[in-house]
Amino acid sequence: MMQEPARKYRPFPPVQLTDRQWPSKVIASSPIWLSTDLRDGNQALFEPMNGERKMRLFRELVRIGFKEIEVGFPAASQIDFDFVRRLIEEDLVPDDVTLMVMTQSRPDLIERTVEAVKGVRQAIVHLYNATAPVWREVVFGMSVPEMLGFIERNVRHVRELTDACPQTQWTLQYSPECFCMTELDVSLQACQTAINAWGTAPGRRIIINLPTTVENATPNVFADQIEWMHRRLAPREHIILSVHPHNDRGTGVAAAELAMMAGAQRVEGCLFGNGERSGNLDLVTVALNLYTQGVHPHLDFSDINGIARVAEECTGLPIHPRHPYVGDLVFTAFSGSHQDAIKKGLAARDPEGIWEVPYLPIDPADLGRTYDSLIRVNSQSGKGGIAFLLERERGIQMPRRMQVEFSALVQQHADASESEISGHQLWALFRDTYLHTQHADAALICHGHRLDENGRSIELDLSFRGSRHRLCGNGNGPIAAAVDALGIPVRIDHYEERAISAGAEGQAVAILEAAWPGVAGSAFGAGISTNIVTASVLALVNAINRLATRGCPVMLNAERTAASQAG
Ligand code: KIV
Ligand code: ZN
Repeated sequence: MMQEPARKYRPFPPVQLTDRQWPSKVIASSPIWLSTDLRDGNQALFEPMNGERKMRLFRELVRIGFKEIEVGFPAASQIDFDFVRRLIEEDLVPDDVTLMVMTQSRPDLIERTVEAVKGVRQAIVHLYNATAPVWREVVFGMSVPEMLGFIERNVRHVRELTDACPQTQWTLQYSPECFCMTELDVSLQACQTAINAWGTAPGRRIIINLPTTVENATPNVFADQIEWMHRRLAPREHIILSVHPHNDRGTGVAAAELAMMAGAQRVEGCLFGNGERSGNLDLVTVALNLYTQGVHPHLDFSDINGIARVAEECTGLPIHPRHPYVGDLVFTAFSGSHQDAIKKGLAARDPEGIWEVPYLPIDPADLGRTYDSLIRVNSQSGKGGIAFLLERERGIQMPRRMQVEFSALVQQHADASESEISGHQLWALFRDTYLHTQHADAALICHGHRLDENGRSIELDLSFRGSRHRLCGNGNGPIAAAVDALGIPVRIDHYEERAISAGAEGQAVAILEAAWPGVAGSAFGAGISTNIVTASVLALVNAINRLATRGCPVMLNAERTAASQAG
């Protein structure tokens, strides 16, 4: 990174709007939502959706309650064209749902786009062109008056084509792409040109959609830009002012919320924030933020987990375990004091009263989630849930890398059994993987150790590949001494030990990660015993057994001695 970033990056200039009204506004009603999952979201996928996946996601969006859905870019993609035709020809669009199709401002593409939606009851044609100075000057080589002429010609073209199909109720959406980087007076001229060319009137809607194509300023700047436009666009009563935030600075949700305070009536985005770079606006978060303020978003997230699974399967993208409202871990408290406060809050709660439970901004039940449901493990479960369950059932706290490794094993099991894994099964899998390593080469029979002024020495009585060995080693602790006794070139990358039951006879679990550099990466092992040294040595032996199954050439000191004597 640069010492002086100001030599490379400049701050975004504030908007001159001294009498701004938006900071004292409250969002009291839900906006019109547009889902662009099937267009902007789809354009951002490593592998764009095929027709079947698009159809599945479309049905889900309809089920959630979206009334406006951008279904594709039909002039740019045959899959999108065919998908739109199928929706229309098979009559799959509910009466109260409007399809939106996007097109670049080019006559042939506009024609193909209008053709794609022919015969539908109502449609929005979404026309855009880039308006920011770098695009105008460097990419297209157009002056502002030239750009305005270009917008006028293209909007007129849409108008002529759509006027010729009066059986459809048409709406134009115009987006000045890169609005947030465009001079406000130029954006206004561009939008006003589109409004006038479309001939906005009662019953003849136009949507002016203002994107943060690349989010580049704090959300208050965007809100100022929206309020500035909101005050000037005319005839305001026939215009639907829409916003299309991206999330490059991680403030897409804030930008949308402040924009609504500033006059935006409509919001575009994707489920769970899928979209180009760091995503489109996360519609679910905005909708549920509204819900937690007592405003119904008119979108149904009462089975949020089901929606998340459909979104993940259709996009191929996982949802982060800490994602607001939907992440696997967002209603799981790991800290004992939080769990305690939640338990007390739930117990004290009046079921008919206002929701006031510590650490829970929303009632998980409203989203079809429960406190318990988070600790169930199936093939969709995240490692946090698995770790939580194992800790709750057996007091085992896995380090993070071990959680990653173990959750992969659990998922293999869950996939193979195609069913939920109980706490008991989970424990059995942990035990067979880390505690009683299967097909083990080595098994600890017993050990003795003592501390002296030079450190620690240990004696191991071990069965190894069927024969019994007595090995001695020294080190600055029992593990180092045991490694020395075994004479194996492993490195200990992680070690932790904690009590899992109380009292003098209480047991401890040791977890250890052993690496065999250059041969087989690393492996975890665990040991449980009432004796903490025994637990550690067991963990070491189990980790080495697991390394051996990955091809590490494990040979004990005694064997090496015998082998070299024989040689
Ligand atoms: O981000 C964007 O600018 C868009 C359009 C509205 C063109 O996706
Ligand atoms: Zn976009």
